This record gives sequence, C-alpha cells and structure tokens, in this order.
Amino acid sequence: MSTVSPLIAGNWKMNGLTHSLDELSELARLLTTGESPRALVVVCPPATLLAAVAAQGASSGIIAGGQDCHREPHGAHTGDISASMLADAGAQYVIVGHSERRTNHGETDQIVCAKAEAAIGAGLKPIICVGETEAQRDAAEAESVVSAQLAASIPDAAEHHEVVVAYEPVWAIGTGRTPTLDEIDEMHNAIRARLVDRFGLSKGESIRILYGGSLKPQNAREILGIGNVNGGLVGGASLLAKDFYTIISAV
Ligand code: PGA
Repeated sequence: MSTVSPLIAGNWKMNGLTHSLDELSELARLLTTGESPRALVVVCPPATLLAAVAAQGASSGIIAGGQDCHREPHGAHTGDISASMLADAGAQYVIVGHSERRTNHGETDQIVCAKAEAAIGAGLKPIICVGETEAQRDAAEAESVVSAQLAASIPDAAEHHEVVVAYEPVWAIGTGRTPTLDEIDEMHNAIRARLVDRFGLSKGESIRILYGGSLKPQNAREILGIGNVNGGLVGGASLLAKDFYTIISAV
C-alpha cells in the first residue's frame, strides 16, 4: 500500500467572482484555527482569480492550481492560457484532461499528455484526470478504459517529475452518485498496479491517486480511508469553505 501524503484539491470550475475570495478567507481561517490538516490543500479557481488565490492562500498553506493549460508555451492561441502563465500567476498544480475538457473540447489522451508535458516543462505538477463513462462501466470496461487513458495521458517525463492522477468516473461527477467503496478500491488498486508496471515500484508507489466525483462531507471519511486513495478532487463541495474544510478534515 502506498504511503504518500494525501492531497485534497478543489476544482471551482467556471464558478467564482471576486466576492468568492471571502470563501477562501473563511477556508484559511478554518485551516489555521482548527487542527492542522494532514493533507496538502490545493484550490483551482477560474484563471481570473488565480493570482488572488495564490497571494491570499499563501499564509494559510493553501496552494493555487489551474484548471487547464494549453500544450504550447506561447503563441497565437486566442483565449488560451499556457502553463508558464499559470506558474507566473502563482499556480503550483494544474488539472489536465478533466472529463469536462475531454467532452466539451474534444481533448484526446494525446492532447492531455501534451498538456501534462507542458505543465511539467513550466514547473507545474499536473493532476491528470481519467475515468470511465457509465456505459463503459456497465459493459465491464471501466478498468481497461482507465488503463488505456493512463498509458496514453501520462507523459514519460513523469518518471522524473511529480504528477498526480485523479480517477473520476464521468457518471459520478456532479451527480451525487458514487461507485461503491469496493469499486473505488478495485480501481485505485488497478491504477496503482499500472503505475508500478510503468514506472517501477518506488516511483509508482509515490504517485498520488485522487478520487473525484461527488466527494462530499458525508462520504469523504469512507472514501478517503481506502488504501490507494491518496486524496480527492472536489468540485461542487469545494465552493463552500465549510464543506471543503470538512472533506479536508476527513483525511
Ligand atoms: P463534483 O466534481 O465533486 O462536483 O462531482 C468533481 C470534479 O469534476 O472534479
């Protein structure tokens, strides 16, 4: 079983205006007045708030992360953001290959891999998302789909740099539904085995595998207690400081 230290990342998605920084202040207050958290805490706000989150979070140990980056370092890509721009704004992590990007923007494993590589090149730690659809789970293809995504989405550069894997069953995202604890356990063990196969025991065991998809205050303790679950990627429940803090404290 892996003994890597846990990480809880909040993904605000396309939510958050300047006043949302009040929630961040409240989270900082909870983190600094309560028992100190066992997990690293990362908040991935929309890009417009990234620099503010990085600056405001620093004193309470909250780490800022991006939600996506372009695979190129710079150039004629109107509306896109490069990994080095995220780093420049104070990010240390960046989510790549979230299922909403894969679905809404047609991102393939190859694109996700290039983005993860770009993130590493800019000194960021990519949080590489994988996960099956409901139809794929029903067809008993979940493990093979996730294995293929892992093989093609994680760049070779991960051997010498820190990367994080997030397993997010597509059908559990934003739905209030989650796999059973046994299903999560099985998938995380399978992911661990793939990582060890590819990168060897020591590196393979050191890569955090987060669970994401309807992680809530109510189910966090059970899910985060599973052996190869090294933390969580939290969407909806990361928008309220109190809920997010409860999840962080469940580690
Ligand atoms: P959710 O989202 O927690 O709202 O299900 C998780 C995610 O998309 O990262």
